[in-house]
Amino acid sequence: MSSIDLKNTYLKFFESKGHKIIPSAPVIPENDPTCLFNTAGMQPLVPYLKGQKHPEGTRLTDVQKCFRTNDLDEIGDKTHHTFFEMLGNWSLGDYFKKESITWSFELLTKYLNIPVERLAVTVFKGNNIVDADNEAAEIWKSLGIPQERIAYTEEDNWWPNMELTGPCGPDTEIFYWRSEEAIPKVFDPENDNWVEIWNNVFMQYNHKEDGTFEPLKNKNVDTGMGVERVTAVLEGVTDNYKASIWKDVIKKIEEVSKLSYDDEKYTKSMRIIADHMRAIVIISGDNAGIKPSNTDQGYVLRRLIRRTIRYARDLNIDINSNWEQEIAEIIIKQYSSFYEELEANKTTILEVLKNEKVKFNRTLEKGLREFEKAVKSLNGEDTINRDIAFKLYDTYGFPIELTEELAKEANLKVDMEGFKKKFEEHQEKSRAGSAQKFKGGLASTGEMETKYHTATHLMNAALKKVLGPHVHQKGSNITAERMRFDFSHDAKMTDEEKKQVEELVNKYIEMAIPVEKLEMKKEEAIAMGAEAMFIEKYGDIVSVYKIGDVSLEICGGPHVSNTSELGKFKIKKEEASSAGVRRIKAILE
Ligand code: ALA
Repeated sequence: MSSIDLKNTYLKFFESKGHKIIPSAPVIPENDPTCLFNTAGMQPLVPYLKGQKHPEGTRLTDVQKCFRTNDLDEIGDKTHHTFFEMLGNWSLGDYFKKESITWSFELLTKYLNIPVERLAVTVFKGNNIVDADNEAAEIWKSLGIPQERIAYTEEDNWWPNMELTGPCGPDTEIFYWRSEEAIPKVFDPENDNWVEIWNNVFMQYNHKEDGTFEPLKNKNVDTGMGVERVTAVLEGVTDNYKASIWKDVIKKIEEVSKLSYDDEKYTKSMRIIADHMRAIVIISGDNAGIKPSNTDQGYVLRRLIRRTIRYARDLNIDINSNWEQEIAEIIIKQYSSFYEELEANKTTILEVLKNEKVKFNRTLEKGLREFEKAVKSLNGEDTINRDIAFKLYDTYGFPIELTEELAKEANLKVDMEGFKKKFEEHQEKSRAGSAQKFKGGLASTGEMETKYHTATHLMNAALKKVLGPHVHQKGSNITAERMRFDFSHDAKMTDEEKKQVEELVNKYIEMAIPVEKLEMKKEEAIAMGAEAMFIEKYGDIVSVYKIGDVSLEICGGPHVSNTSELGKFKIKKEEASSAGVRRIKAILE
């Protein structure tokens, strides 16, 4: 069964069970400054899982565009992807375990024709919050899953996990026996031949920032099925890239490289190109209008394109030919039936790819000349030293593997140890640099500057309230006399809007709210919904400043300890800074 048939079968099945089919949210989250990308089907539905009424009702189903960057280095194996599609069905305080499990079983065995013998499930073992999920186990048994194919686990049966905040709950995971080997009688979730194909979460709690689990207003169901994995299962292949989803793309890569996917020397590079090209098309084709840049989603896009070009070189693809346009066109055609925006944004996608390729090619050329110069100056030594390797990396955007490859062709080695050390030193330096930068342009940290710094957080929050959640900080500069603050917004602010922002900030000041400093893992801060300018640039542990319910921002500080210390806030000027960015100058009196 092709992925398109799988998606249609799934959506139609749940439609027949009273679900409304809703379109995928953009891959770039709307109104959520804390995440660069949607990473799960439920992510755009969080407000509704928390109790807000959904306009389409209480039963929903969709296929969601998802993107995860955490696995970038694992791309190239059989099962990992950056972009992937997640099928899901939701009950917002409507049905619960019985219907959810029964329908999953029905879809898998009757519509996707998976034999019951190949299925096994895990259910929640119980902890100090909820008892073991015997109810789920009993439902599975009543449908024909034998006791020995039901495993109770704790860690893996709570979604997302016990640490992250937000809607959560125990889940039941469905596994499929993917091997030709005889199916063991007793299910062991540790055996890799059992692959997880579907996850049904019984979402009953909101994990609060204070660590408590508050029962949600509604008992919800949230499920997720990975399209790539299930298509591979249904098509009987163990390499996801051998499934029909990838057939035309891999064929095109074989054609432009004149090499074979089955030749082990090239398999990995081809998988990376296929995976990255699809992600590039989906991200640059999203209506959010992401372009390659050095920050946020644009930076991810740039990295994906450069990585693709570097692997295309590995395969001796003629970089200047139209190879990337041809691959992109195949992907656009393949995915347009579900994501119409791809066809509409086709010209943009193709341009983004071409422009970034031209740009990187230029650096590549210069870098190659630099390399040759370096080789000539070696005077018989056989090792490219760390400084040259680092310069190629840092100034010319050469991945170190490329430098190594060039060195090898010239019978040379690269001082990899030295490079690594230099790389780490540089990372530390740029981390320190960015910590400095994220003090928000504070030249010194006197009393007034500290006050202004806290005022920017209040103003950022007030701007969001008045103008909308699209407002994000784009920069700031503070002196003892004033604050300057740049933020994303398309139009000139009206006098009324400026007045509202002033009033709100002054209200926050009057409320005498304590300013708390919290230290936590970056992921936790993101999960808590903390605002940050360039989240990728922070280290693993971040400081988060919390001003009551008004503001939560990742920031280097320093700040006053109570908003009452700020005095009176006044906007002096509002003007354009650059395209889509406004600038406010404000003072504290
Ligand atoms: N939200 C659940 C998951 O992503 C269904 O696995």
